[in-house]
Amino acid sequence: MTIPLSRTQLALFFILLCPVNIIGLWWAVGSPLHMDPNSICRKTKRLAGKQAELCQTQPEIVNEVAKGAKLGVRECQYQFRFRRWNCTSQNKYFGKILQQDIRETAFVYAVTAAGVTHTVTQACSMGELLQCGCEATRSRAPPGPASSSSPSSSSADTGEGVKWEWGGCGDDVEFGYEKSKQFMDAKRKKGKSDIRTLIDLHNNEAGRLAVRNYMRTECKCHGLSGSCTLRTCWKKMPHFREVGDRLLERFNGASKVMGGNDGKTLIPVGQNIKPPDKQDLIYSAESPDFCLPNRKTGSLGTRGRICNSTAMDVSGCDLLCCERGYRDETVVFEENCLCRFHWCCVVQCKKCSVRKELSLCK
Ligand SMILES: *[C@@H]1O[C@H](CO)[C@@H](O)[C@H](O)[C@H]1NC(C)=O
Ligand SMILES: *[C@@H]1O[C@H](CO)[C@@H](O)[C@H](O)[C@H]1NC(C)=O
Repeated sequence: MTIPLSRTQLALFFILLCPVNIIGLWWAVGSPLHMDPNSICRKTKRLAGKQAELCQTQPEIVNEVAKGAKLGVRECQYQFRFRRWNCTSQNKYFGKILQQDIRETAFVYAVTAAGVTHTVTQACSMGELLQCGCEATRSRAPPGPASSSSPSSSSADTGEGVKWEWGGCGDDVEFGYEKSKQFMDAKRKKGKSDIRTLIDLHNNEAGRLAVRNYMRTECKCHGLSGSCTLRTCWKKMPHFREVGDRLLERFNGASKVMGGNDGKTLIPVGQNIKPPDKQDLIYSAESPDFCLPNRKTGSLGTRGRICNSTAMDVSGCDLLCCERGYRDETVVFEENCLCRFHWCCVVQCKKCSVRKELSLCK
């Protein structure tokens, strides 16, 4: 007897088989961009196991984790906006990318782990979570002159008699780091090879380190009329855009690896290649070219994509359109213009037609 499964049942089925991690949640509730943080725990309420446990014991953190995954995917779409594969969020296609072991997969894992680290840490600093807050810094040594690159520094700061103190609200990145680890590095689906698991874990860590290793020190001067006899300093995370930029660099320089004979180690492919360090992205299979739609690889193809006819890089029409050529199209759209402010308080605008030349891939 066969029983047709509803979508929800299918989703539950997936969660039960799936790892207790955010990638598992993707399968259950869709791509992070369509994920409603508030509904995740409702959807998983009837389940046993670690997922349900996390939902019951720390639902606020689950919400932040989901927001973090969303932040990661948005950043992925920004970084890849001019590329053949543009990190599209259509779930089926995204899922296909996640199942492979290509550079793009590495980036998605890393940027998601980074997004979760960043979002959870930020929530701590904003006082939105009971479990964490600003970083406790009392036990740490005061910042040395090495941190004088902070915005408020001046040559006078390094003079004698300047006292340093940790204070303010530092970002507790260790907390976000640990939570990201808990959610992203959970056990994998059976059937995934050990090597594949090692690669995913490596890329997750690379993502978290892209946040944790780039903390900056911010300081504020105190003292009579800005004399700065006392400085208070705290640690802040890098802006997430900066994290994304850095991960894109790692994507461009990603290292290909293969499994060693023992099935437990990764070795770089090719001669004289330096072993990837902890912050490098790694992959084991070559990417498809993403030129044509292909359900198997999760490629949507580049037909109809806007390209730049003068750019020589990946956004240029030659590369983006896979040499199929492009057509120019004039698009006319309306814009507000000649706006005037009337006291008080309205702004009146006229509508103007604006023409724009676009190149679209054939
Ligand atoms: C990404 O690519 C797909 C398929 O080529 C396209 O439909 C979509 O509009 C693109 N998204 C952006 C933001 O360019
Ligand atoms: C197209 O590429 C050129 C050259 O790289 C660049 O200067 C220009 O800003 C690009 N145009 C758009 C719309 O991105």
